[in-house]
Amino acid sequence: MKFFIDTANLDEIKQASELGLLDGVTTNPTLLSREVERTGMKPNDVLKKICEMVNGPISAEVVSLESDGMVKEAEKLSEIAKNICIKVPITKEGIKATRKIVDKGIMVNMTLIFSVNQALLAAKAGATFISPFIGRLDDIAHIGMDLVEDIMVVFENYNFSTEVIVASIRHPLHVVEAALIGADISTIPFTVIDKMFKHPLTDIGIERFLADWKKVQNK
Ligand code: G3P
Repeated sequence: MKFFIDTANLDEIKQASELGLLDGVTTNPTLLSREVERTGMKPNDVLKKICEMVNGPISAEVVSLESDGMVKEAEKLSEIAKNICIKVPITKEGIKATRKIVDKGIMVNMTLIFSVNQALLAAKAGATFISPFIGRLDDIAHIGMDLVEDIMVVFENYNFSTEVIVASIRHPLHVVEAALIGADISTIPFTVIDKMFKHPLTDIGIERFLADWKKVQNK
């Protein structure tokens, strides 16, 4: 499974990339505006910095609602760096734009996927990635991971090359479930990456090993 980090926070991306486990980054207008406010940097400068820090697809989202505007934004954003991937919402206009953007050799991550039909449309349009938002489905009492499971079956049935990014991850169990299903990618918030390391028995184990070792240091 590939690990993306779901943030635009440069400090978090730096810390996560130092682990050597990062395969990409996903941002959205909410995450990017948060970083712009925090740092006072321009949005494209934040994206450029992220592209330099991580060697993998860096998703940057368009805000136009009609396809021509989306394509124009995609062209501009793709000038930032080669590894920019354009996040496009799953709408009719988004679908029209996706084919055009992909035909220009630019990666597309179709976002705000909440149904198998939307995933199917995105894959047929040639999206490089799709992002089902599982946490937001859980929020309205639908089991988000069931959607990922169904999408994986459909994509396997037709050998679609579109990769599934499990998005809107809220806790470590979501990552486990995504991995058990065999999803291609999880895009994980920094706090959840941190929690994935933790186990009390690991801490107790290290403490005991060090204590036992200390006892024989003068021998
Ligand atoms: O990658 C999608 C993600 O940013 C949305 O997460 O927690 O706002 O539903 P959330």
